[in-house]
Parts: sequence; structure tokens; C-alpha cells
Amino acid sequence: MSLVLRGVDKRYGAVTALDSVDLEVARGSRTAVVGPSGSGKTTLLRVVAGFDRPDDGRIVLDGTVLHDGIQHLPTHRRGVGVVMQDGALFPHLTVGENIGFGLPRETPDRARRIATLAEQVGLDASMLPRRPDALSGGQQQRVALARALARQPRLMLLDEPFSALDTALRASTRQMVADVLGAAGITTVLVTHDQAEALSFADQVAVMAGGRLLQAGTPRELYFHPRAPLVARFLGDAVILSATVADGVARCALGAVPVSDRAARGQRQIMLRPEQLVVAEGGAVRGVVEQVAFNGPFCSIALRLPAHPEPLALRQSALAPPAPGTEVGLSVQGVAHVFAAEAGAAG
Ligand SMILES: Nc1ncnc2c1ncn2[C@@H]1O[C@H](COP(=O)(O)OP(=O)(O)OP(=O)(O)O)[C@@H](O)[C@H]1O
Ligand SMILES: [Mg+2]
Repeated sequence: MSLVLRGVDKRYGAVTALDSVDLEVARGSRTAVVGPSGSGKTTLLRVVAGFDRPDDGRIVLDGTVLHDGIQHLPTHRRGVGVVMQDGALFPHLTVGENIGFGLPRETPDRARRIATLAEQVGLDASMLPRRPDALSGGQQQRVALARALARQPRLMLLDEPFSALDTALRASTRQMVADVLGAAGITTVLVTHDQAEALSFADQVAVMAGGRLLQAGTPRELYFHPRAPLVARFLGDAVILSATVADGVARCALGAVPVSDRAARGQRQIMLRPEQLVVAEGGAVRGVVEQVAFNGPFCSIALRLPAHPEPLALRQSALAPPAPGTEVGLSVQGVAHVFAAEAGAAG
């Protein structure tokens, strides 16, 4: 492991921003942290960077104790690169000087090194003499990233680094950042509000709520096998149903649906993702289309089933959507996930 947090607490007065957080990040890997606003994501990065001191717990990076109550390594000795939510460039320095700020004074070939860093993050050389206020928000975020890369950190902490970018530029910038960090073998922790970004960027996704780390795992594990409904909903739309489960089958409003957990039994909550529900001519379950909303690449359909209190949310290609009021058949693809008995009850 590269980065290890054990039992990390951080309080601001009466607010518990981090509540006994445990997290492990493998060397050279990428972890995405997601969670509602105020759940402690930025605080997590701040205690790892050394901007804030935890009230309890231990933080270790590549075998070096960053904090454990006895030892507390100052920020500049942690080998950690940081791009915070607000970018925080120096307004009185040029773009080039901002990037160069991360380089030691005596760096040979300083100017060329700055040019290389700018190029790595896709900034044109013509921008180097400008001041940050003469750049777009997205370009400023790239400068902040280049400045952080200049220090050749072991660990890079990114807090919503793509938030100022439109969808297309966001995807290409994300790929560029992943490539640059991957090539340099830098362990990365990224905070994002974008579920798709978290799932596609990261090797590990960590979901936070109320200062607690609810679950960490691979994107697939969290998307298809979340521990609790709260985690499920945070990573995308979820169809959650009550069911009677036995012998690998859940009996629910959708009929008999196979489940992933053959050992699960009894009254349980199950989950399917909307894309697992497909409107099909011969579908065994019938429902009435209540609403159809156009979303571009797909349309969202609210379908009323006879045996379920609320309409189900599903989606399909927007090319030929069913009309509201029509009765359609439904088939279920893949298997349903069964929530742990107590987690299901709580969610
Ligand atoms: N310096 C501070 N003083 C007092 N409370 C703080 C301070 N910094 C953060 N908090 C509180 O700690 C909690 C966690 O804040 P944090 O910034 O970590 O949330 P976040 O998950 O990054 O939210 P967002 O998604 O909105 O950026 C919030 O309730 C916040 O108000
Ligand atoms: Mg934040």
C-alpha cells in the first residue's frame, strides 16, 4: 500500500468532518472519493496534505508516518502534490512562474522544464507569460495541475479538478491527467461530484457520508454490489425492491429474478440498475408507461407495475420510445444484488 489512513478523526468545533476513517490506496493506483456536499471529502485531502491536523488516527505514506499523534510531518516534507477545489494560483505571478513555483530554484534548464510541464497538461506555450486572470477556469485548473506535477510528488491529491470544464473537454482532460499521472507512477486521490467520472477514472471508489467512509472498492463492486442503498444511489440510479429470497432467486414485483448471492434468504431488499430492465415484446412482467423523458442518448421511462407502490425508473434508447399510457412487457437482464439484511432495513 502507498497511502494508509487508520481511524482518522477531524472535528471543527461541533462538526465532525471525519469520523474514524480507514482507507488504503495501492501504490500507483487511482482512488476517487465521492459523497454528498459536506461529507468530508475536502477535509480528507486536507489532513493527508498536512493543511489540517487530525484529532485522532494515523496516516502513513510509503512507509513514512505523516501523522500519528506523536509525529506530524509538515506539508512541504510530505511529497504530496495538491490541486484544491479553488485552484489557488498566485495572481501576481505569470502562468510560467506559477508552474515554476513548484521547481527548486537551482533546477537546471528551468525554462524548458516549465515548458514541458505546460505541454503535458495541454497548455499552449503562448499562455506562459500571461497572468492567471487572463485564462479560462479550465486553463487555470491545468496550471494548478502543472504546478503540482512540478514537485514530482509521490501522491497527488485532486479536489474537483475538472469542475470548470464542459463535458467533452472534461473527458479529454481527465484522460490526459490519468495518462500523465499513470506514466509518472504517481498514486492519486481524486474528489469528484461526478459519478461517471469516479467510476471511469478510478481503480478504487470510496463513498463518504457524514464524515464516515461507507464503502471502498472497485468501481464494479460498488456499482453492482453496494453494501447499502445509500451507496447504491450515490453511484447512479437504482431500482430497489422488497423481495423474498431463497435458492438464488428473488420473488418480487418483477416476478422471479435471479440474484448474485445464492446463500441469501428471507425478506430482503434487492437492487437492479435501470439498464438491467428492458422493455421487451414478450417480457413476462407487464406494466403501464406513466412518463417518458428525453435525455439525448437515452430516454427515462417511469413504468407502473401492478404489484409495486411506486413507478420503476428504467431507460432505453431514445430512438423509438413507448408512448405514455401504453402497456409494455419488461424483461430483466443479469442478476439482482441482495443488500445485507441490516443495511437494507436501514436504507
Ligand atoms: N475550517 C472549517 N471550520 C468549520 N467547519 C468546517 C471547516 N472546514 C470544513 N468544515 C465543515 O466540515 C464538514 C466537511 O466539509 P468538507 O469541506 O470536507 O466537505 P466536502 O465533502 O468537501 O463538501 P463539498 O462537496 O461541498 O466540497 C462540513 O460540514 C463543513 O462545513
Ligand atoms: Mg469539498
